[in-house]
Amino acid sequence: MIAAIHPATAIAHPNIAFIKYWGNQDEALRLPLTGSISMNLDGLFTSTTISPDENLTTDSFWLDGVSQSGSALDRVINYLDQVRNLAEKEFYVRVESTNNFPAGAGIASSASAFAALAVAAASVFGLDMSEAQLSALARLGSGSASRSIPAGFVEWQPARTHNNSYARSIAPADHWGLIDVIAILNPGQKKTGSTEGHRLAQTSPLNVARVALVPERLERCRQAILERDFEGFAEVTETDSEHMHAVMRTSTPALVYQTSETLAILRQVKRWRDQGHAVCATVDAGPNVHVIALAAEREWLEKELNSIGTIKRLITCRPGSGARLLSESPG
Ligand code: DP6
Repeated sequence: MIAAIHPATAIAHPNIAFIKYWGNQDEALRLPLTGSISMNLDGLFTSTTISPDENLTTDSFWLDGVSQSGSALDRVINYLDQVRNLAEKEFYVRVESTNNFPAGAGIASSASAFAALAVAAASVFGLDMSEAQLSALARLGSGSASRSIPAGFVEWQPARTHNNSYARSIAPADHWGLIDVIAILNPGQKKTGSTEGHRLAQTSPLNVARVALVPERLERCRQAILERDFEGFAEVTETDSEHMHAVMRTSTPALVYQTSETLAILRQVKRWRDQGHAVCATVDAGPNVHVIALAAEREWLEKELNSIGTIKRLITCRPGSGARLLSESPG
């Protein structure tokens, strides 16, 4: 009997990691090998509505108005099965998601997708959860989604158990006027998704070294954010991105996400910083470069990046809020 259950809509922003999540100690639970630190991206979001439907015999999933099948649908169904188990409920739902960012631009949507899905699903399935519990719930769908639940600048803790591995805000969105100018490049070769990539991390002989260095780096990154120390922040952020890509390139099989165009922009960003500009760069599991800068650099930076012919488009974001319900069942 689901007559009393109403639809719920939630929105969540994606995030950019400054200290990266790469590799799990428990794949099924997405318990990461290390902690990570990120910033939510305000201009981009996923909006997800979950509607219970008595006529459904399984879940359905619509993305940007298109009915999904195959692995995209399976991932959502597997996720909802976990939520149903936790809630001890047995009805099926229709999931409708929209992203306000371009599909195929290489901007990872799993963080905002599973953060919005977790918040909407918790409401529809009647799970009354704290922010930490919602973050852990989102983590089960996509590791980085745990970091899209709290607001602003966020740190995700590694832990050995489900309940203890969640993210929390280390500073609100208005704490520091950073921007992320995402330089979108042509996709390189067909990319290995991050879920598959995490499995390969431990095949790299460099992974052990990276994992050992991350705790000290988390400390430095958190301090730099709290003190608004751009120089310290830039150094630790770029180093961690380089080390993650070194692990990727030395995995078996090797994962090469950066193209020659990526590398040219990374070199340019370093030159600008040497000239005194507050800019640095980080790259996820794709070719795009996230140029992180102080907001005062925005106009100059966008003009410079726009004159680089290999960049297809720029998307600029400021620190964003956490995931939230837009509507829920009355009572
Ligand atoms: C390189 O969270 O996308 O962006 O848990 O399999 O969905 P799944 O992986 P995902 O991995 C993100 C990897 C990264 C680094 C980061 O965001 O920390």
